Amino acid sequence: MTQLVLPRGYQPDDEGTHPPLDFAGYKTTALRHPTKPLILLPHRLTEVTGPVFGAERLHNGDDDLTSYAGGEAVGQRIIVHGRLLDSDGHAVPDSLIEVWQANAGGRYRHVNDQWPSPLDPHFAGYGRAVTNADGAYRFTTIKPGAYPWRNHLNAWRPSHIHFSVFGQAFTQRLVTQMYFPDDPLFFQDPIFNSVPDQQARDRMICAYDHSVTTDHWALGFRFDIVLRGRAQTPFESEPDDD
Ligand SMILES: [Fe+2]
Repeated sequence: MTQLVLPRGYQPDDEGTHPPLDFAGYKTTALRHPTKPLILLPHRLTEVTGPVFGAERLHNGDDDLTSYAGGEAVGQRIIVHGRLLDSDGHAVPDSLIEVWQANAGGRYRHVNDQWPSPLDPHFAGYGRAVTNADGAYRFTTIKPGAYPWRNHLNAWRPSHIHFSVFGQAFTQRLVTQMYFPDDPLFFQDPIFNSVPDQQARDRMICAYDHSVTTDHWALGFRFDIVLRGRAQTPFESEPDDD
């Protein structure tokens, strides 16, 4: 087994920031969490020099989820923006941020999502952007609806947007979920509550941003993503299906 050598200046994550691999209230983690000690796989050339997505890979409109197949998506139009930051609050530029989410009625465009809420023919549910020199990103989308799942009786996921952040290689991908302020469904959601620390949970909730709200157009929300340190955003050990 490879000895883990930590870089100088490395700050360990605060306990309570990230969800455990096995969380009693989140049923599917019982079957999918590892039951043997983790093995550190050394990063070889392939892992650290794999395909990197730069701004040239993006197309016009990739950061706008409100238009698809020749029409406008139904729902509350919102602007979600923020910055990607390191542990010292410095900008992390040139990073690919991908998002995916349910439509305004809480339905994903996915074969496994079959609950009786209509698909929106003009909402695909995914987008991507690259952070600029200030580490800033911005999406225009619609507010996703809550949706039911089978974790427990009358289980509903709070409105959320899934975020993926690529580093300089595939192996550096981080995934999290962004929630909305004052959602009444937090109390019964085991995915949100699998993050042990209340302050860390709060860092998954965006803030209403009136300076970005646009008159007669869209509501604005701010969501900064912090990769390390005491203000770190909670990340999932594997992307949740839900
Ligand atoms: Fe989801």
